[in-house]
Amino acid sequence: MSVEAFDAIDVIRAKRDGGQVPEPALRWMVDAYTRGYVSDAQMASFAMAVFQRGMQRDEIRVLTDAMIASGERMSFASLGKKTVDKHSTGGVGDKITLPLAPLVACFGVAVPQLSGRGLGHTGGTLDKLESIPGWRAALSNEEMFAQMQGDVGAVICAAGSGLAPADKKLYALRDVTGTVEAIPLIASSIMSKKIAEGTDALVLDVKFGSGAFMQDIDRARELAETMVALGTDSGVATTALLTDMNVPLGLAIGNANEVRESVEILAGGGPADVRELTVALAREMLALAGHPDADVEAALDDGRAMDSWKAMIRAQDGDPDAALPTARESHVVMAPADGVVTGMDALPFGISAWRLGAGRARAEDQVVHAAGIDLHVKPGDRVTAGQPLFTLSAEDEARFPRAIEALDDAWSLGDTAPEIGPLVRERITA
Ligand code: URA
Repeated sequence: MSVEAFDAIDVIRAKRDGGQVPEPALRWMVDAYTRGYVSDAQMASFAMAVFQRGMQRDEIRVLTDAMIASGERMSFASLGKKTVDKHSTGGVGDKITLPLAPLVACFGVAVPQLSGRGLGHTGGTLDKLESIPGWRAALSNEEMFAQMQGDVGAVICAAGSGLAPADKKLYALRDVTGTVEAIPLIASSIMSKKIAEGTDALVLDVKFGSGAFMQDIDRARELAETMVALGTDSGVATTALLTDMNVPLGLAIGNANEVRESVEILAGGGPADVRELTVALAREMLALAGHPDADVEAALDDGRAMDSWKAMIRAQDGDPDAALPTARESHVVMAPADGVVTGMDALPFGISAWRLGAGRARAEDQVVHAAGIDLHVKPGDRVTAGQPLFTLSAEDEARFPRAIEALDDAWSLGDTAPEIGPLVRERITA
């Protein structure tokens, strides 16, 4: 039996007492956890110590690197095109990846968008796309390459199990031990997968506000700066936008309804906030890929982005023209009085959609594609008594009471229109 180089208990104590874990010990901890030598209990204790004590930038870099080293590293060098990816830290109604990937691909750039499924109140890109009849999330590396190399250019698919397996294990553990919201752990988790994926460039949509991991803009900025530094140090051109997630994005929260809204954006319409963020992120991505003057709005308005979307969906066996699922039951929330919508809090809307069946409580649960919420108003809109505000959709009426309860204090009516700040607050560069 080989002798281990370090003891987990020493690593845990060092971090518990606020010290910096030396590089070899930290690399060993990640490797030994991936091999199963360090137990879940020990790693959970270490994660809590990181949560409480934080990590130096150098430690975060080593942790990220150790997680990359736990699995395969992909390379798109043979594609002969620039590759650029986007990552969002997640929010309510955040369907931006769907219109964004085909839009960016219109300009001859390859977009390798490895995506995930939703857990809790934030939705997952793959769950949304699986509302489209026939669409397939699981692609082999060869299929992914072929799709990026050919005319399609964009691919949205599930990350293979070979990419940063240490993160997969650690993320599942953090999810059940109250250690998700630690900046060093979030930054290393996201960036290990993106760097291992081998993209040339990366744009991060780091969200702050009630529907985001980081409620507070200062913490979101710290997360963004940490991730931009990690990407840049690894040779991935990385920038970030800090964007507001206090109010749901767009008018659809769910799966099939978010696909419908994405298609409206690709047809040159859709809600103004979804278009604004799609355009802002596309410009960032294309600037990093060497196309700073690309006219992305024209590509949305003249049908090129829609053609690119249809080609991307067909390449993964989906039918972009097929009808999307609709729910059996619906419940409409009406305005109780005349007034102006003064607030809509993203988190309870996300929880309500989740309770309707749009999200999952456990990784093995199935989502209900037709479930969700359609908003008919947003903050600043004037309403009259009896006017429909939101439509809740579910397969089973029994879902409504708890979903409605989640919305009890989620929105407000008043006399004066609220101040609405810009959606994109800051741009973070290296
Ligand atoms: N997304 C990830 O991939 N990891 C985190 O820690 C948080 C969000």
